[in-house]
Amino acid sequence: MKIIVTGGAGFIGSAVIRQYISETDHDIINLDALTYAGNLESLASVEADPRYHFEHVDIRDREAVQHVFDRHRPDAIMHLAAESHVDRSIEGPAEFIMTNIVGTYNLLDVARRYVDTLRGEKKDNFRFHHVSTDEVYGDLDATGYFTEETAYEPSSPYSASKASSDHLVRAWHRTFGVPVVITNCSNNYGGYQFPEKLIPLVTLNALEGRPLPVYGDGKQVRDWLHVDDHARALRLVLEKGAIGETYNIGGHNEKTNLEVVQTICALLDELAPESPGMPHASLITFVIDRPGHDVRYAIDAGKIQRELGWAPDETFDSGIRKTVQWYLDNGEWCRRVQDGSYRRERLGTLGNKQAAAE
Ligand SMILES: NC(=O)c1ccc[n+]([C@@H]2O[C@H](COP(=O)([O-])OP(=O)(O)OC[C@H]3O[C@@H](n4cnc5c(N)ncnc54)[C@H](O)[C@@H]3O)[C@@H](O)[C@H]2O)c1
Repeated sequence: MKIIVTGGAGFIGSAVIRQYISETDHDIINLDALTYAGNLESLASVEADPRYHFEHVDIRDREAVQHVFDRHRPDAIMHLAAESHVDRSIEGPAEFIMTNIVGTYNLLDVARRYVDTLRGEKKDNFRFHHVSTDEVYGDLDATGYFTEETAYEPSSPYSASKASSDHLVRAWHRTFGVPVVITNCSNNYGGYQFPEKLIPLVTLNALEGRPLPVYGDGKQVRDWLHVDDHARALRLVLEKGAIGETYNIGGHNEKTNLEVVQTICALLDELAPESPGMPHASLITFVIDRPGHDVRYAIDAGKIQRELGWAPDETFDSGIRKTVQWYLDNGEWCRRVQDGSYRRERLGTLGNKQAAAE
């Protein structure tokens, strides 16, 4: 197959592309605008492969997207390109509206017209796979899980923009017959994640002996999934998922943010005893909560398990150990992806500039 992966220079997209190139015979076209979150260094291991192609294109530019479809005539598109950081969406929602909503519309519109030109098997097999988040469902109290039937109730500009894009994808399926599949996944973690997200941020700050700010009381619960498990689930849904269906993906790893931070501190005490700030948990500080902060997310991933046979390989214990070790081993990558405009400062406090995490 020839597959366009949008956002392939980002955290999850690059994991998907590394897997596709190393484990399959597919041709991959990475369509990415290379925003602050996109980094081609994450694809260094595959860039020389003749089956890997890069298109420096912004999904807000419909004409440029159209050219990529014309040039490559893909068998499928997996759409991950997005603005993805909740704090940034509070600081500046406009980019989220333009990329996550208008950008998705452009892709759907181009894909719809492209599918109309296909015939036979190529038409029957074409898929538009939209990659989304569990945050579209809002939050839960202490019990219950998000299923594919849970009503949408997004809280942040980020989750509202992703919810909008999910609705567009469903409408383009129902109204225009675009053959779509949708996935909604919980929080991912692993190597190559931009150090503004909780796990790499805390790991790198702790290594430098800097404060580890925890939002509010740190009791917010998230379900964590290793990015390689997510990438495997995405590949499976693209190839075997039923048209028009949604699949929730999760790791069965519910943790409070404070537990995650404490786990990282304990691992660093063991793996990096020379670093300043030992014991690392002494660096934890509680700071003002994020506005509208969701209390708990928890995913029921029973459908993808029952219907497609997917289950995660990593437990949180095995995955977080590998991840912390990855950041210890890849200091150079971390230094290079952080340009002058981002210095792990707190965003999204509606004017309160106190330094913080997540
Ligand atoms: N990270 C998570 O925990 C998580 C969980 C569930 C779902 N998701 C979804 O998965 C997708 C990927 O997430 P991620 O964490 O890898 O994001 P990321 O921020 O690491 O990467 C996003 C990528 O999209 C590219 N991009 C941004 N705007 C673009 C535009 N206008 N045109 C073309 N490319 C553009 C960036 O350059 C970057 O390479 C997103 O759609 C996100 O909503 C993420």
